[in-house]
Amino acid sequence: MSLTKVAILISGSGSNMVALVEAMQSGAVPAEPVLVLSNRPGAGGLAKAAALGVPTATCDHRGRDRATHDASVQAELEKAGAELVCCAGYMRIMTDAFVEGWTGRMLNIHPSILPLFKGLNTHARALEAGMAVHGCTVHEVTPELDSGRILGQAVVPVAAGDTPDSLAARVLKLEHRLYSACLARFVAGETGPLALFGEG
Ligand code: GRF
Repeated sequence: MSLTKVAILISGSGSNMVALVEAMQSGAVPAEPVLVLSNRPGAGGLAKAAALGVPTATCDHRGRDRATHDASVQAELEKAGAELVCCAGYMRIMTDAFVEGWTGRMLNIHPSILPLFKGLNTHARALEAGMAVHGCTVHEVTPELDSGRILGQAVVPVAAGDTPDSLAARVLKLEHRLYSACLARFVAGETGPLALFGEG
């Protein structure tokens, strides 16, 4: 059986990307990382991907409209033979046409328990709302932001004295576990949502 070819889209440090690549390379996830693509030249994750032996590409979004940018990303995905796309800290709004071309084949991780706190600054907003728990969600990507089918969620208790940064750090550790576990289930065709519980 041939392994599913996975491309990972990043914009920054790429810690989720590293977790996914390591899970694939260790055999824990039966899939093959074929491309790590960043919209930001010099993103820290690009060097990490190269060190892991994964081909990289950069599509700089600056000075181009969204459709032109997405077309260049699409061309790189096709060149790499990607069958599944994992967004991992990819901080670009994508065009509907691009997303629709990957329906059911594009995943994302979002740092909140969706449908709560879509969009940015999720950790600060969870604290402001007085949440007792916070977490992250892996979901399918659809044109509506942070709204596709939920594949898994992980929760941590909010601690007294938590700051957005301390909370983000605890959630990020769980993101790494959750995304790899959800990818494993997804490529195996398991459809029910996964629940993970982290330590406070
Ligand atoms: C993660 O918290 C992800 O959920 C969010 O951006 C962060 C990216 O971190 N959208 P990294 O690049 O995977 O380290």
